[in-house]
Amino acid sequence: MDAMSTLTPPVTAGSRAWLHAAVARLEQEATRSADTHLLRLDFPGFPGIAFYFKDESSHPTGSLKHRLARSLYLYALCNGRLCAGQTVVDASSGSTAISEAWFARLLGLPFIAVMPACTAPQKIHAVQELGGQCDLVDDPTQVHARAAQHALEGACHLDQFGLAERATDWRGNNNIAESILGQLRRESQPVPSWIVCGAGTGGTSATIGRYLRYRRLDTRLCIAEPTGSGFVHGWRTRDRTAIASQPTLIEGIGRPRVEPGFLFDVVDDVIEVDDAAAVAAALQLDDLLGTRYGGSSGVNFIGCLKLAIAMRAKGESGSIVSLLCDRGKRYRETLFDPDWRVAHRLDIAPWQSALQATLAEGKPLDTHG
Ligand SMILES: Cc1ncc(COP(=O)(O)O)c(C=O)c1O
Repeated sequence: MDAMSTLTPPVTAGSRAWLHAAVARLEQEATRSADTHLLRLDFPGFPGIAFYFKDESSHPTGSLKHRLARSLYLYALCNGRLCAGQTVVDASSGSTAISEAWFARLLGLPFIAVMPACTAPQKIHAVQELGGQCDLVDDPTQVHARAAQHALEGACHLDQFGLAERATDWRGNNNIAESILGQLRRESQPVPSWIVCGAGTGGTSATIGRYLRYRRLDTRLCIAEPTGSGFVHGWRTRDRTAIASQPTLIEGIGRPRVEPGFLFDVVDDVIEVDDAAAVAAALQLDDLLGTRYGGSSGVNFIGCLKLAIAMRAKGESGSIVSLLCDRGKRYRETLFDPDWRVAHRLDIAPWQSALQATLAEGKPLDTHG
């Protein structure tokens, strides 16, 4: 036996056969899935500005993380890191865990989700219903370390926070940016002025920012984030050690630290959004679209409106695109429960009136009357 063969486990016909079958299953699933809708809204307060929302909640697992989970499994498989029967683990604020649990079931693999204990109960139940195990951590900043611990014990760490930015094919392959721009092609403003999204792993913003440059478009990328998040502070000072100055009740974005996948240089602007404004905006989206979306969609909506207010003030017309990231019913017992909001000091009433005035008259989003 030479030195190489003692270091490298032999690839048996069986393991390659399983790998091929697993990749084929993911490709079949992608072929069966339809693209998500791009919904258009127009408001009296913003003549000449069209708003588009990509409804990522319509994926089979209810969020934009369906795309990511498929990419992370493919990335792990094609890097030879995931084998038949191996347990899969990842750290998540819930949406990714639901999608990863769904794909684990598709591939016949055990799955562990490491999530903060404060994660919305609906998300925890969803992971469990899909056969996943939830390892709940009291301190949200410890989820990465706990997932890494499971990996040391032999699990395959999908590592969304470390790998989302590279597991997605940013040049195309129906990534979210290619899909949005393709769906806009028959619109009167097919090249948007702005695309707005939040930063969880940073994978979505990295994909969009890179794709805009690759396609040589002038569209700018704005990150809408909960006030005081790690991304906000890191982007402003270009400091990768920055940490959040306040926590957020919005799940999925507003990370406490600068995640490895945050690419500052593809981001043109950052808008901070208060949690209460985000919930008021999510409820407004429900009125407008007849479907409830999560708090991060509310953050995005506020970001779009702030950009539109600035465009209006400069007499500009154009289009603004953002994402409806996940289904609102996941937050029935948290953000959308009035008693829960009182307990968490979220007063959304002033934001609800401010939103009405902004949508009707283009007024700045001001809660002071
Ligand atoms: C609900 C929700 N919205 C937005 C995002 C942000 O996406 P990304 O992780 O690609 O930065 C996440 C990420 O977890 C999320 O869960």
